[in-house]
Amino acid sequence: MPKKVRKAVFPVGGMGTRFLPATKALPKEMLPIVDQPLIQYAVDEARAAGIEEFIFVTGRGKSAIEDHFDHSYELNDLLSARGKTDVVDSLTSSILQAGQVSYTRQQEPLGLGHAVWCARHLVGDEPFAILLADDFVRAETPCLGQMIDAFEATGGNVVAVMDVPKEQTNRYGILDPGEEDGRLVEIKGLVEKPEPAAAPSTLSIIGRYILMPDVFTHLGRKERGAGGEIQLTDAMAKMIGQMPFHGFRFDGVRYDCGDKLGFLDATLAVALDRPDLADGLRGLMQAYQD
Ligand code: G1P
Repeated sequence: MPKKVRKAVFPVGGMGTRFLPATKALPKEMLPIVDQPLIQYAVDEARAAGIEEFIFVTGRGKSAIEDHFDHSYELNDLLSARGKTDVVDSLTSSILQAGQVSYTRQQEPLGLGHAVWCARHLVGDEPFAILLADDFVRAETPCLGQMIDAFEATGGNVVAVMDVPKEQTNRYGILDPGEEDGRLVEIKGLVEKPEPAAAPSTLSIIGRYILMPDVFTHLGRKERGAGGEIQLTDAMAKMIGQMPFHGFRFDGVRYDCGDKLGFLDATLAVALDRPDLADGLRGLMQAYQD
């Protein structure tokens, strides 16, 4: 029986160049989908999946993320004085408790693999989750919760996967898939961002992982891969054959919020589900069609 998944790593050091100028002074993870920042959706998903420790790998200019998950006494006092206790309660519920959260810095932009490696001492010798806030997943059962069940059933590494259009394989980590069993896909190989002609399939990794701590040994070799970066995918590939490793076709819809249209799509989906906004938004959309 593998150890329980208690810790989650959130790599939030990226520059967010695709959303400039909005992300010049604002971390891209703080961009809101309606009225909640992207990073909070990811943290809420992890919390709902039973995660107890939240590890952020940050970088320069990311202090707004720390403030977001902390108390804001001035704001609370002001809102309480105005009788807005419901808002105070909602702000309080998103705070990460003392000792439950840690921040470390990725001091150089050397890639996702390097960002994860920066958290090695905070994770220690146990399986852990990684969530990329750009990949926003809406699901009845939170995607990470589904994956933890799959991890407990298989006893090894699990990554969330979905099929992407063939021409997009060069944006993702791509699987060389083996046998399928329900939502589980055996992984025979992994390639980071292959061109469509070289891709072993169209089954791609999206930003949810449950990995064994052995991955840190491979990341520690600091080998450079696609784009000259230290790639998480390459370190994961080294674990294939050493222990169980599966792709998991999660139940839910994933929005690529690192992309402007994907971000707008997510915004519409969330707003159309909100009783306070749905009718108004439908009216607006109708007006644009006329
Ligand atoms: C990263 C990973 C890639 C994965 C993707 C999911 O790429 O390197 O394997 O498929 O996240 O969003 P990035 O989006 O950081 O370029």
